[in-house]
Amino acid sequence: MKTYKIASIPADGIGPEVIAAGHQALEALARRDGGFAFDVTEFDWSSERYKRTGALMPEDGTEQLKAFDAIFFGAVGAPDVPDHLTLWGLRLPICQGFDQYANVRPTRILPGISAPLEGVGPGDLDWVIVRENSEGEYSGVGGRAHKGMPEEVATEVSIFTRVGVERIMRYAFKLAQSRPRKFLTVVTKSNAQRHGMVMWDEIAMEVSKDFPDVEWDKMLVDAMTVRMVKDPKSLDTIVATNLHADILSDLAGALAGSLGVAPTANIDPERRFPSMFEPIHGSAFDITGKGIANPVATFWTASQMLEHLGESAAAQRLMRAVEKVCADGIMTPDVGGTAKTQDVTDAVCEAIRGEN
Ligand code: NAI
Ligand code: MG
Repeated sequence: MKTYKIASIPADGIGPEVIAAGHQALEALARRDGGFAFDVTEFDWSSERYKRTGALMPEDGTEQLKAFDAIFFGAVGAPDVPDHLTLWGLRLPICQGFDQYANVRPTRILPGISAPLEGVGPGDLDWVIVRENSEGEYSGVGGRAHKGMPEEVATEVSIFTRVGVERIMRYAFKLAQSRPRKFLTVVTKSNAQRHGMVMWDEIAMEVSKDFPDVEWDKMLVDAMTVRMVKDPKSLDTIVATNLHADILSDLAGALAGSLGVAPTANIDPERRFPSMFEPIHGSAFDITGKGIANPVATFWTASQMLEHLGESAAAQRLMRAVEKVCADGIMTPDVGGTAKTQDVTDAVCEAIRGEN
């Protein structure tokens, strides 16, 4: 029997609520399957820890995580700690320290969930957004001078490297190739940003030659938002920069019904380091502690984690269970239901147990 070592970092707000739900589903899957098990180590790295000790995680945090097969992450952010401190204090050091350069964000409308676009239901919106996750606009390069003075200046420099762009492009073409439609949309802003973005376009063209069976097109990011809303069926796999894909995937989540159902995987495709799996949403202070956080995004990212670990059958079983429970109308308030987090979790575990 295989035992996967999972580092669990629930962190802040509703993070602990949805991660607890995720572990229950993973346990149900392991018991149902019998061929694998999880050895879970929980870390208390969080904004609470920051307030107590001055750091969200210990100095050797990433070193400690190296021993794990995967990282299961909740959300980080607290009302009384600046967001740039929490993000740069925990999530980004892991993503960047482990070179998790491919951020993979599947979106589709699950059965039973009403999506905001008229006439667009399950089957009409089935996308995977691939976000460059190691450089670009979030490289952290820049600075501020003359703070607080009238002549204060701040720079936020986007870094695009040939290596960085080529590897994400290759990942996206390969992913597009593995999906039935074999169709990729490359998003840039190469009309206004004439250096880095033009290099993206050029590299897309070069890499496409290695994938003759993948059809592809290009979009400017502003026009892309319109296409996502007006013609969702025309899209399948999408690749974009760190910033652009960050924004587009929130839109994608909303178009699919709720941020509460949107998952993401931070992948090191070369498998040198553990990859990290998390819901897209944040710590959601407005609903923390109420027991109504939607656990579906966390189940979905758990499914991505199983897929990455090579447990494809269990990954698919989990998504079938989630789809069944949504179709049965057992849903949290953010998607129009009245169920609690635990009700949805129990129903998903039941569906996992009940499946032939
Ligand atoms: P948010 O995603 O926490 O919440 C936005 C809205 O969506 C809220 O109304 C919330 O109730 C709702 N929502 C989110 N997840 C839900 C779920 N599972 N079920 C039901 N409703 C859900 O984004 P917001 O409010 O902008 O940020 C709150 C904090 O989270 C900030 O500190 C922010 O920096 C942090 N954050 C952290 C992220 C991460 O750890 N990856 C990602 C996004 C935000
Ligand atoms: Mg975001």
